[in-house]
Order: sequence, then structure tokens, then C-alpha cells
Amino acid sequence: MANIIVIGTQWGDEGKGKIVDLLAEYADYVVRFQGGNNAGHTMVVEGEQFISHLVPSGILQGKTCFIGNGVVVDPEVLLGEIEYLKSKGIDVGPDKLKISERAQVIMPYHKAIDLGREKMKGDKKIGTTGRGIGPCYEDKATRRGIRFVDLLDPEGFADKVHTILKEKNFYLTGFLSEDAIDPEEVIGKYNQYARQLAPYVENVSVSIYTGMQENKHVLFEGAQGTHLDIDHGTYPYVTSSNTVSGNAACGSGIGPMEITGVLGIVKAYTTRVGSGPFPTELFDDIGDTIQKKGAEFGATTGRKRRCGWLDTVILENAIRLNSISGLVITKLDVLGGLDEIKICTAYDYNGKILNHFPADLDILAACNPVYETLPGWQEDISAIRKFKDLPKNAKDYLNRIEELVETPIDIVSVGPGRKETIVLRNCFD
Ligand code: GDP
Ligand code: IMO
Ligand code: MG
Repeated sequence: MANIIVIGTQWGDEGKGKIVDLLAEYADYVVRFQGGNNAGHTMVVEGEQFISHLVPSGILQGKTCFIGNGVVVDPEVLLGEIEYLKSKGIDVGPDKLKISERAQVIMPYHKAIDLGREKMKGDKKIGTTGRGIGPCYEDKATRRGIRFVDLLDPEGFADKVHTILKEKNFYLTGFLSEDAIDPEEVIGKYNQYARQLAPYVENVSVSIYTGMQENKHVLFEGAQGTHLDIDHGTYPYVTSSNTVSGNAACGSGIGPMEITGVLGIVKAYTTRVGSGPFPTELFDDIGDTIQKKGAEFGATTGRKRRCGWLDTVILENAIRLNSISGLVITKLDVLGGLDEIKICTAYDYNGKILNHFPADLDILAACNPVYETLPGWQEDISAIRKFKDLPKNAKDYLNRIEELVETPIDIVSVGPGRKETIVLRNCFD
């Protein structure tokens, strides 16, 4: 039995969708356990691109997919995604997709509050995706959230909406100067979503556990990245859930002892979308070249991603926080054509060398990366399928990463397509 977690090690968009789609071939179940449709996971199969925000990326391989209790679900977006996948000929019926009855529902007031707050913050905004993620988790924590099980009880649901909208409308109109939301309109719309989604809702914890008893292999699909984690990331410039591997158990309703491995997805350089500190960010032509060659635009919001060199201080943090057993290096092809490639090995904070990621954002802002410079390679590596065939300088770059973070590389990705991959070790073997 192999139960593997795929986790982003940086600030999201490391290529988790591609790797989950690739590894789903060996899994029976694929599970999302946190986040919501702030995620945008891209898969490219036979030249066709698919982007999923909520449905686990195992759906293209025909695997049974689960949305765990830790996910916040916008039913309108989920229904849209089901339709989109169906239109592409993918089977996404209730036998293939299961939603936890305990998953929280994103409501229209969550989105309105998310957008209204960002507008009010101006320059100090977090740069959220505007999908209502933070306000939904906030209501979960303050015990006013609406779960799928509540959505399926029309009378109770209507009562809850009336009660909560008194408070939300007061805040929306009185504090954020936004429009009030009509409870009857919300109830009507959400009753319709409830009828459409009811066949998908079940006790996901029991289903996954039962599968595990039958030796099914499970792949847990992380969203966002370690440095967007609400506890361990660059707080407050983070998302509102725990994105680290420990939450895979909690967010899907299984025990931590079931996990057999954690794969850390590492983009060969670093990107970040939205606000917040980013020590190795590049503001020069090299940053622009990487942004353009890597087509670094957000899969959810279309925003340009900020680009910079690989940072092993954050990698060390991710490996420790997630118990990462193997690394997947993605987008190595994008670095081809550069004369030199830099790796950040530590931070210099006013002459003091820091090897661990600081919690204080003022300290982080004052840190200068300490770089090691390696020679680049000029060849196009996207057709290479064996490690030994990579240019020497590309192999040296990978070997140096392994050495610096003391963790083996299991997979190298050299293009967006499922097959544009070099597999050194299959974690399901
Ligand atoms: P995720 O959120 O971690 O799933 O990543 P995204 O899908 O948001 O962003 C990754 C982007 O890089 C997508 O456009 C992928 O198609 C693309 N991608 C993934 N792996 C590779 C790779 O090895 N090379 C190149 N050139 N593109 C890749
Ligand atoms: P995937 O799964 C990159 C970022 C937003 C913002 C911050 C908070 O595709 O890697 P939120 O809407 O979550 O309250 O926004 O988090 N963010 C992501 N950045 N990839 C993602 O997901 C992200 N999900 C959220 O840009 O800075
Ligand atoms: Mg993404």
C-alpha cells in the first residue's frame, strides 16, 4: 500500500497538477484536502490543456476523486468545472467524484467580503484570488460556516442564511461600503446547487479508509505551497489554510500513520503571485526572460507571476515541515539558454548568515540572498527522457540541489506535457 502526498514547496504553482496527473496512473484514489478554487492546477495530455480548480487532478486518469472535509467549496464553480470536464469527454459523475459532507461551502458573502477587504486595503492588500477563501475559513473557525450536510437540509439552510446575513450585510454595507446581499436570492440559488450536488456528497473519511483497508493506493493533492501556509508561510501574505503535508490527514479524515511518502514539488526557479516578501525575486532581464519562457501567468487569476532564483533556505524549510521523502524538480527546461544559474544557499541579514527562514517579515525584507553561481546550458532538453542524457551542466545543477538540501530527486519535469518527464524513482513501486 502506498499513500503519497504531493506538496508545493514554494509559493504555489510548482507544477503539482502535472505531477498528480502523471502519478495518478498508479493510484486508485486522488484526494484534495485543503484550499479551494484559489488553486489552479494545469495538466497537459496529448497537447490538450486542462485546468482544474477544485476537482482533483486524478480525474483525467479516470481515478476516483475525493474533495475532503478540509476543502472550501464554491458549488457554482464546482458545477461549472464538472460541466467543463464533461464537455471534454471526461467522466466526472458521482461514481468518480465524491464531496465530503463536512466540507465548508463558499457563499456569495465570502466572495464579496474578500473583494471588499482587498479594495479597502489598497497598497497593503494580500493580493488574494478574490474567491472568498479567507472569509470562508474564518466562518469555519468561528463556527458559523455552512457545510455540505447543512446545504442538503433546505429548512435549516434557509435559517442559517437569514441569521448570518444580518451580520454579514451589516459589515458589508456599514464597514466595506459594499452592496447588501438578498437572503432569498442566495437561498434560491444554493437550493438549486444542493439538488445538483446531492448525489456527490458522502462520508469521505469512511470511503477512503475502506479503500485503504482494501489496499487501494491514495494520492493526496496539495494546493498552494508551503510558504503560503497560514502557520508556516510569510504571514499575513499567505492563504487561509494549512498547506503542509500534516493537513492531508486532517483535511481528508484519515490518520497520519497511513501516509507512506511525501513528494515535494520544486520549480527549478521560484515564482510568487500576489503580494508578500520574496528574497530571490529578480527585477532584471533574467527575471523577465524566465517569466516569458516559463509562461508564468496565474492559472486562476491570469496575473503575471513574479520570478526569481531557486532558494534552498525555503526548500530546507519545506523539507522539514512536510517530511518530504523525495523531490520533483519541474520546469527545468525553462532555465535552458541562460549563461549562468544562481542558487540561494543562505540569507545575509546585516552581516549575519541565516540558514533558516525567519518569521519576522521585517527581518526577511532586510535579508540578502547568498548565491552560488553555476554554469547554464544552451540545449533544449524537453525531448530528453533519461537523466543520463541531460547536458552536464543541467545534471550538475540537479546534483547540487540534492546535495544542498540532502534529499533525493525522484522526478524531473522538462515540459508541461504528461510525458515530458524523467522518472528516476516511482514512489508507488
Ligand atoms: P500547480 O498549481 O502547482 O498545479 O501549477 P500551475 O498549473 O498553476 O502552474 C504550472 C505551469 O507550468 C502550468 O502552466 C504547467 O502546464 C506548466 N508546467 C508544469 N511542468 C512544466 C515543465 O516541466 N516545463 C514547462 N515548460 N512547463 C511546465
Ligand atoms: P496553486 O494550488 C499561487 C495566493 C494568492 C495570494 C494568497 C492568498 O495553484 O498552487 P487566497 O485567495 O488564497 O486568500 O490568496 O495566496 N495563492 C496562490 N498562489 N498558487 C496558488 O494555488 C494559490 N492560491 C492562493 O495569490 O497571494
Ligand atoms: Mg497553480
